[in-house]
Amino acid sequence: MPTSARRISTFGTTVFSEINMLAQQYHALNLGQGKPDFDTPSDIVTQLVQAAQAGLYNQYAPGPGTLSLRQAIASHAARFYDLEIDPAKGVVVTSGATEGIFSAILGLVDPGDEVIVIEPFYDSYVPNILMANAIAVCVPLHPPTWTFDADELRSAFSKKTRALILNTPQNPSGRVFTRQELTMIAELCIEYDVTVIADEVYEHLIFAPAQHIPIATLPDMFERTVTVSSAGKLFSMTGWKIGWVYGSPDLVQGVLGAHQFVTFAVHHPSQEAITYALNLPDTYYEMFQAMYEKKRQLILNALDGAGLKSCVPEGTYFVMADYSGVFDGTPLEFTRYLTKDIGVACIPPESFYSLEHAHIGHGYVRFAFCKSDEMLQQAGERLAKLQ
Ligand SMILES: Cc1ncc(COP(=O)(O)O)c(C=O)c1O
Repeated sequence: MPTSARRISTFGTTVFSEINMLAQQYHALNLGQGKPDFDTPSDIVTQLVQAAQAGLYNQYAPGPGTLSLRQAIASHAARFYDLEIDPAKGVVVTSGATEGIFSAILGLVDPGDEVIVIEPFYDSYVPNILMANAIAVCVPLHPPTWTFDADELRSAFSKKTRALILNTPQNPSGRVFTRQELTMIAELCIEYDVTVIADEVYEHLIFAPAQHIPIATLPDMFERTVTVSSAGKLFSMTGWKIGWVYGSPDLVQGVLGAHQFVTFAVHHPSQEAITYALNLPDTYYEMFQAMYEKKRQLILNALDGAGLKSCVPEGTYFVMADYSGVFDGTPLEFTRYLTKDIGVACIPPESFYSLEHAHIGHGYVRFAFCKSDEMLQQAGERLAKLQ
């Protein structure tokens, strides 16, 4: 009998499917998955409709992305980070950041190489590394501050290390790595000649005084970094799945080498609309941050009122909450209880950890606050029943 391949045999199905079903069944307010329950700005949607109707953008886009979008991505990097990106050779448009990360691994890492991952991590990293026949080496962030230990970080590096995946602002901890932390990572990457795959999808989801510092802007890091980002979070369009990878042409051409045979090219009319969106004035970006400042306060009030301790997120739309004061059990048991009996869904962090370090997330669950203010307020009222 034909069977599925060994490379996927340990993957299972994501916990998100179970929690989403449970949330639906029990009419719970779903603060699990990180998808906004409000819509994409209507002017951006109008651009998409107009692009589709123009009859010019309904066939394959160029493999690396439309030149206008690649130019907009380069201008965005210049506007916010003073980075000089070559739109012709230094940018690839991908099917979301997820494909960008996978194509970066496939294009820049050889079988048998080691890839350092900071955990808890976005759940596609380790399966991506395994599918590339490479080896994941995990370095934990330690709660309640979600910081790494300098010795643990250093001991993860070896002659076999080829790449490090760095996510800042970090999902799920809400941490934004400081210049000092980034410098420590950068120095090790230089010492061991390691490529950084910088996942910066939450680059604009940042709360003052925290400041997003792309690792590519640190001394001697540009030529060893590819930066991955996405339109999904910034324009509340997680369903559009348009992301990109940029950096030094040598590395980006490696990513393109994989991308051309993973998706080849991505949705064409969306690229027109996202070109428009990325070029929006600074006021859009400021309004976006102010909207999330308010939501962050609402979720923090809700958690506080429920006796759930949290480390105030410096970025992203996630917060990790310590439930050990109100419940005795595993994160999955608490999630099921919260969803069924309290009516609020969250995500247990098991799938964000390697088996070796899963115990570190014990006592924590993740809440997403990319939800309407009304839903966050209502969640607060329900969570108060935990007290
Ligand atoms: C850290 C991180 N990276 C990548 C992604 C995926 O982004 P996209 O939807 O653009 O593939 C997510 C989505 O939740 C994320 O949290």
